[in-house]
Amino acid sequence: MPTVHTRRRLPGRSVARGWDSVAFDIFSSVKVARTMHRSNIGISGTPPHGTPPRGQPAQSAAAHDLSGSSELYERARRVIPGGVTSISRAGGLPHPVYFERGEGPYLWDVDGNRYVDFVLGYGPLIFGHAPELIAQAVTRQVARGTMFGAQHRLEVEAAERIASVVPGAEQVILSGSGTEAAMIALRVARAVTGRPLILKFEGHYHGWSDSAFVSVAYRGASAGTAERPTSVSGTAGLPEGATAGVLVAPWNDVATLRALFAEHGKRIAAVIAEPLMVNGGVIPPVPGFLEELRRIASEHGSLLIFDEIITGFRLALGGAQEHYGVRADLAVFAKAIAGGVAMSAVTGPRAILEAVGEGRPAHHGTFNGNPLACAAAIATIGYLAEHRATVYPHLHGLMARLADGLRRAAPGLTVRHSGPVLHTSIGEPADARNARDRASGDPAAHARFVQGLLAGGVHTAPRGLWYVSTAHAEEHVDLAIVAAGEAMAALG
Ligand SMILES: Cc1ncc(COP(=O)(O)O)c(C=O)c1O
Repeated sequence: MPTVHTRRRLPGRSVARGWDSVAFDIFSSVKVARTMHRSNIGISGTPPHGTPPRGQPAQSAAAHDLSGSSELYERARRVIPGGVTSISRAGGLPHPVYFERGEGPYLWDVDGNRYVDFVLGYGPLIFGHAPELIAQAVTRQVARGTMFGAQHRLEVEAAERIASVVPGAEQVILSGSGTEAAMIALRVARAVTGRPLILKFEGHYHGWSDSAFVSVAYRGASAGTAERPTSVSGTAGLPEGATAGVLVAPWNDVATLRALFAEHGKRIAAVIAEPLMVNGGVIPPVPGFLEELRRIASEHGSLLIFDEIITGFRLALGGAQEHYGVRADLAVFAKAIAGGVAMSAVTGPRAILEAVGEGRPAHHGTFNGNPLACAAAIATIGYLAEHRATVYPHLHGLMARLADGLRRAAPGLTVRHSGPVLHTSIGEPADARNARDRASGDPAAHARFVQGLLAGGVHTAPRGLWYVSTAHAEEHVDLAIVAAGEAMAALG
């Protein structure tokens, strides 16, 4: 197996330690990180690929030059609606940051500022940026053909690889994005059960399709009571009846779930859940909840779909099904599945998925099983399978260290952490059980905190999700802890 990254000496600092170095002396490391932070981080130097950087380091808000990003944003707004290619990338700063390159745990923006990246493409970059493993796999395939529009060996191998590590994956559907995979899983459920309704949880996100973009956040009074929640459209433009086809329940609330099934059970095709509610603020299932969910779905002849688009290949090699020991009927994957290349999958038993092979329901897609994505997925899953004994303890250990450090360095911050995922917010309860419990949060204050982090050389998502990769080491985490303490202090 090739190594994921070639270790290069990075400018102005010691060589980043790899994923096999984990030591947990938090206080001494934070002290080291503080020194490193002041002297090196964000200081422009020659990036590893050799292009001289422009602009100045991201050392303080005052010195943080983002003029190149500002210029690009002005141009973008003329030709791209809102200036961004996904609305979830808007917000936070007065304008988005434009990046030029990434390597390992680092990103460089167009002004030459370097950041330690904890966004990681919102999850796909499990090996960090530009891993050699993926670069080689994709480059090899580019030379052989980027697109066949027909069957090829790599799609068979990718499906076999996925099936070999995902519990219950007798068959695999390949698609392009997480949204598409969730959409086809829901369609399969309706087709094979002959039932019209889907049940989902408030605050869970399953992509932006018409079938799923309902109650993606808690919307106060319009969402009804916890006992009788109302399905709330997540966007203008949903077709008539879209919300009527989706029942919603608060996460971690067995009583409401049972009541909804008692009333509508015979019409519920599937219940879909992020088995660990990551996208909506890292809220794990309370003990016994997933088991109860499994039991209730089976009792009513409904399918249980796990949306493992974040948890897949990250929580464990076999995702949440392996981690929690609860088996879904269908599971949906994307993000980390191909180490940063666009690809998604639905897995499940032949008895269910064979229906797709028979064309009921229809599943189409020009880019399904794309050779570049398949090459990347084969390399990703192959590496993770071979190195699972070190990769997963590393990801979990680094996140535990980050959670612990953030709680100590920035006491005003709410930190929720579960395994290899973490969420920060301001004003929310740390022990939130569902989306309703998050209503006390102050997203504007958190966005200012994120801006402070950025000025300190740490790139995080305004909505508070943090990821780490195999390229991150303790020093990167410790640096973020220091920057977080400073950013919170600056908020006053
Ligand atoms: C849990 C979950 N499901 C579905 C999706 C949609 O995936 P994609 O953005 O690839 O369409 C996301 C994306 O963030 C997600 O986090």
